[in-house]
This record gives sequence, structure tokens and C-alpha cells, in this order.
Amino acid sequence: MLTTMSKIAVLGTGYVGTTTAIMMAHLGHSVRAYDKDAKKLKTLMSGQLPIYEPGLEGYLNQSLSNGSLVLADTLAHSLESAEFIFICVPTPSAEDGSADLRFVLDAVGEASLHLSKGAVIVTKSTVPVGSSEKIAAKLARTDVHVASNPEFLREGSAVEDFLNPDRIVVGAENRNVAQTVADLYGSISSRVIVTDPNSAELIKYASNSFLAIKLSFINEMARLCEAVGADINDVMTGFGTDSRIGQKFTSPGPGWGGSCFPKDTAALRSLGEENSVDLQMIDAALSSNLSTKKHVVARLRKNLGGELSGKKIAILGLTFKAFTDDLRESPALEIAKELVHLGALVTAFDPQSKKQQDFEFELADSIDDASLNAEALLVLTEWPEFREANPEQIIRAMNGDLVFDTRDILSENDWTHYGARFVRMGKK
Ligand code: UDX
Repeated sequence: MLTTMSKIAVLGTGYVGTTTAIMMAHLGHSVRAYDKDAKKLKTLMSGQLPIYEPGLEGYLNQSLSNGSLVLADTLAHSLESAEFIFICVPTPSAEDGSADLRFVLDAVGEASLHLSKGAVIVTKSTVPVGSSEKIAAKLARTDVHVASNPEFLREGSAVEDFLNPDRIVVGAENRNVAQTVADLYGSISSRVIVTDPNSAELIKYASNSFLAIKLSFINEMARLCEAVGADINDVMTGFGTDSRIGQKFTSPGPGWGGSCFPKDTAALRSLGEENSVDLQMIDAALSSNLSTKKHVVARLRKNLGGELSGKKIAILGLTFKAFTDDLRESPALEIAKELVHLGALVTAFDPQSKKQQDFEFELADSIDDASLNAEALLVLTEWPEFREANPEQIIRAMNGDLVFDTRDILSENDWTHYGARFVRMGKK
């Protein structure tokens, strides 16, 4: 267990901040979280999450009831005698794709006046390489340290990722300071990588960009499999069993999305441009991802006789992946919009995206409702509940027989048994 309990402030209670605050409190630290958005704080205070994240609400309620987590009503209150200040505010993409540091610098500027001597500002948000220096300059305090501790939390499995990380990365000019940040994770057994700030910041971009390249490659192989009559599932198993490649993160899909991959690849590309380094692999991953989304639309159209206009399409899944309510940069949403643009009549069902916003298409309350009279059923997110769909009932209710599963979540045998013309990625 922990040897020392530290006083931690978490600034920003978005996805990363909420998880960091709750899980640091779970590790035994005394945490105060603050956000400018009073509504978010109120929601958290009432024991509810402003985001959907499996397992996290239980830890929130535990830490609220034992007092290890406090939602501070002012910035000053959150920073009172804080030893470590985690910056978890957003770093959106600027027009040119570079990461915008404005919110981080604003937070640091405001915090500067309230910080205790010896405090450590820790950036958790994904910040551009070189940010630590800018933060130190903004702080203008020689008695306060700066460290970078990038997060590698996946939406939908953030609790698991926090408690069982592949590695903990901390970068700081002063390695002793970096080690004190790593020590906050005391009871978690993980490899710790202590490095300089720029390397820590780059590790985050390199990880996400490499994973994006990996997925773009898989999706290209899937297209090739369809063309030459091979099966991506077998090809994937065959080459993934080479331990240098690995079997994780190799599922083909309708393209990668979410709040990190598109933003981080764009930011890395922009960093390359700023430094006159030609990052061709990143460009290729981005354009290949666009081709994947286009390919889904084209394959659907081809299987519907070359025309989408006036055709009713049922879409299953709108979020960028399962176990999240996040629609940011969701390939499913982009594909749905493109189908509408091409004249298709789209009805979508998503377990987590119910009437949250105005879509340009119909939203159904169930799989059955969505598929009524549809000419095709298009699965775009790998929600496990889609497996519960009754193929016999759905095929009967549809006005066609095409089932296009871009996530390989349905049982091909079951669906073809009831008359579906079943199509999946990476198979002819
Ligand atoms: C990612 C990183 O994994 C995480 O370490 C980082 O901190 C934040 O960004 P997240 O955005 O939650 O996490 O999603 P992730 O599970 O990595 O998936 C990203 C995209 O890749 C999704 O669109 C997903 O559907 C797609 N994907 C993932 C596939 O298409 N196939 C796979 O095998 C895995």
C-alpha cells in the first residue's frame, strides 16, 4: 500500500481529470478537484459522473463518502496546501492541427498566485512537445516545479488502465521531482519511465500515432483481403502471432476516431512541419483512415446495386467505439452523415447516444425499431448488445437482406442461417 499520502489538486474535471481525481483518491491521496463549470462539479458532488465510464462511479462514491475526494468550489480552495497540481484541462486542436495550449496556460497563470512553495505542476492533458518550458515561463515561480505525466487511459476501460498501466511516464528537468510524481502511484505495480519533459510529452504522441498507423495498416490489409479473396481474421492471427507484431489492437473497423487519435496525429504532423521533419507515415495513416470510411460507404452502395438514394439504412452504433458515450470524431457518425448526404434514409440505434443531440437522421429506441423496413443493416460500433439481436426477427422485419458488419461483432453463421446476405470487413 501507499507509504505517503499526498495532497493533490486536479484542475479540470473532463474525462481525464475526473478519472485522475477519483482514482488518485482511491489510491489514498487527499484530492481536491476543481472545474470552472460549476454544473460538472455539482454532478460529481451528487455522486454521478458527467461522462459514461464503466466502474468509475463506484470509486467516486467511495472517495466522496470517505472524504478522500472533495469537489472544490473555488480554484484557491482546490490549491490550498496542494503538493501536486494535475492539469487536466482540454488541449483542443487549433486551425492548423497543432494542439492549443491556451487553457493549460490560463489555468497555470491563475493557479500561480495560490501555489505553495515546492509544489509540482503536473500536466496530464496531452500537451505539445515543449509545453513544460512554456508552463514554467508562465508560472514565473522558481520555487515551483513542472512535470509531465501523460495519460494513456482508454475510454471505456479507464479504471482498468489506471490500475494496471503498461507504464507510468514522468518527465521533469529535475529527476528527483519526476520520481516524486511517479511515487504517487506507489501501490500500482508498473514499469516507471523517468525522463526529460520533451521526451515524456513526445511519448504520448508517438504511442497514439503508432497505434493509429497500426490500425490504418490493418484496415488496408482488410481491403486487400476483400479484393484477393483472403480473410483478414486469419491473416491477422497469422501475422499477429509474431510476438514482434502482437495480436492486440488489430481489429479492422470503419476507421479510427475518438478524442485522441485524430487530434494527436494531427498535432504530431504539425510538430513535424514546425521542425521541418517530414512525417510521411502520419500523413499516410490519416489519409488511409479517410479511405477506410469511404470504403465502407462504397461497399454498402455496391451491395445495394450501386444506388443509396431513397434506400432505408439501419445503423447500429454511433459512438466512436463501444463502452463510451463519446461521439467525438466518430467514424460511425461521419459515415451516417455521408449516407444522408447521398440520399439514404438513415435510422440509427446506439445504446449510449439517445437523443443527446440533433442528428440529421432518425434515432431509434431499439435495434428492432431501427431495422424495420430497412434495406440494409450496417453495424458501425462493437456494442456487445448487438449480439443479442434476433436475426430471424430482424431479417423478417427488414425490406432487404443485407447485413454489413464492420466490427465483426455478429455471428455470420446465425445471420446467414436466417437468410442474411452477410458482409464483413476483410472478407469478400
Ligand atoms: C486512445 C488510446 O488508446 C489511449 O491510450 C489514449 O490515452 C487516448 O486515446 P481511446 O481514444 O479511448 O484511447 O480509444 P481506443 O480504444 O484506443 O480506440 C481508438 C480508435 O481505434 C477507436 O475508433 C476504435 O474503434 C479503433 N480501434 C481500436 C479499432 O478500430 N480496432 C482496434 O483493434 C482497436
